[in-house]
Amino acid sequence: MSDATEIRIRELPKDKLSADHFELATVAMPEAGPEHILCETLYLSLDPANRAWMQGATYRSAIEGGQVMAGYTLGRVLESNHPNFEPGDLVEGDGGWRSHFVLKGKHASPVAPRDPLSHILSAYGITSKTAYAGMLAIGKPKAGDTVVVSAAAGATGSVAAQIAKASGARVVGIAGGERKCAWLTDTLGLDAAIDYRGDNLFEAMKRTCPDGIDVYFDNVGGSTLEAALFRMNRLGRIVCCGVVSQYDTGNPSPGPRGVPGLLVTKSLHMQGFLVMDYPELMDKADDDLASWIKSGQLKVAEDIVEGLANAPQGLVGLLAGENIGKRMVRVGTEK
Ligand SMILES: NC(=O)c1ccc[n+]([C@@H]2O[C@H](COP(=O)([O-])OP(=O)(O)OC[C@H]3O[C@@H](n4cnc5c(N)ncnc54)[C@H](OP(=O)(O)O)[C@@H]3O)[C@@H](O)[C@H]2O)c1
Repeated sequence: MSDATEIRIRELPKDKLSADHFELATVAMPEAGPEHILCETLYLSLDPANRAWMQGATYRSAIEGGQVMAGYTLGRVLESNHPNFEPGDLVEGDGGWRSHFVLKGKHASPVAPRDPLSHILSAYGITSKTAYAGMLAIGKPKAGDTVVVSAAAGATGSVAAQIAKASGARVVGIAGGERKCAWLTDTLGLDAAIDYRGDNLFEAMKRTCPDGIDVYFDNVGGSTLEAALFRMNRLGRIVCCGVVSQYDTGNPSPGPRGVPGLLVTKSLHMQGFLVMDYPELMDKADDDLASWIKSGQLKVAEDIVEGLANAPQGLVGLLAGENIGKRMVRVGTEK
């Protein structure tokens, strides 16, 4: 077999991540040992969490300099020494930034094909499932509620906002720049959008949420979370999904003003979660996502970067807000 390629972390970033922190290497094709499978990578998911993994241990161990960059992949089995898989099967797993990867069979998840295959990572992927679990199990929007979603033009946020709309809520999205804000209102049909780069957040939330906020789905933390806290209604729910404003730095800022004071005086419920906390919701999530896509209530947005060599710049761009919808790298061909 021919050679394989992989992208390693040359040096961990001390502050902002750049493509220079990575290096591309050509290596011998890996071999599948006993109980292992060899796969070609079709798509590599790019996630803000990739940068958070460089800050230290999270829900996984920290990434070290010199390692192949970790990442979630969709692959096709080429060789199998595991009874559950045969060549041609599609699998998901932590294959890393590689053209080909070897996993223990027990660490790979079989996945059914979708048309197109990229929908496995976008429409039905981790970010959509995260939006589903966080919005419905914690946010619990009701008809007439005001729901605010940050990073609303991104993979998780765009789905969370549309699920809240499908629940009958009035939905306000926060995103960076006029292009994204126009997309939120004109394409997704949200009720209002806030450009956090151009607007004063406190004033913009007052203007777009005249009746206060009942649910805040927080993807970003920092000053956006602080502004939302001051606008929350009594008994409101804050869904802590992620903290992307604090990932691409060597010096994350401390938590916002208002915690715990406003949690007490407004009787707020503020809860963090990981999508894997909700395995029992995943089958229903697949069914509901499919039916919303069919009815037109959920628009799937993908942002595909071509070629493994462009993954570093793709991640840097994701953290800078280049993407609308789910960013991923097309590594192989769908065939
Ligand atoms: N809890 C879980 O299980 C789970 C699972 C998956 C993802 N997440 C979290 O969900 C959030 C969104 O992830 P995603 O994969 O869907 O990525 P994404 O939203 O598609 O992409 C990240 C977006 O973050 C925004 N951003 C970057 N820096 C920012 C800043 N300083 N302040 C505000 N916004 C900023 C950018 O949009 P703008 O142009 O609008 O700035 C960018 O497009 C992340 O916090 C991630 O960690 C959580």
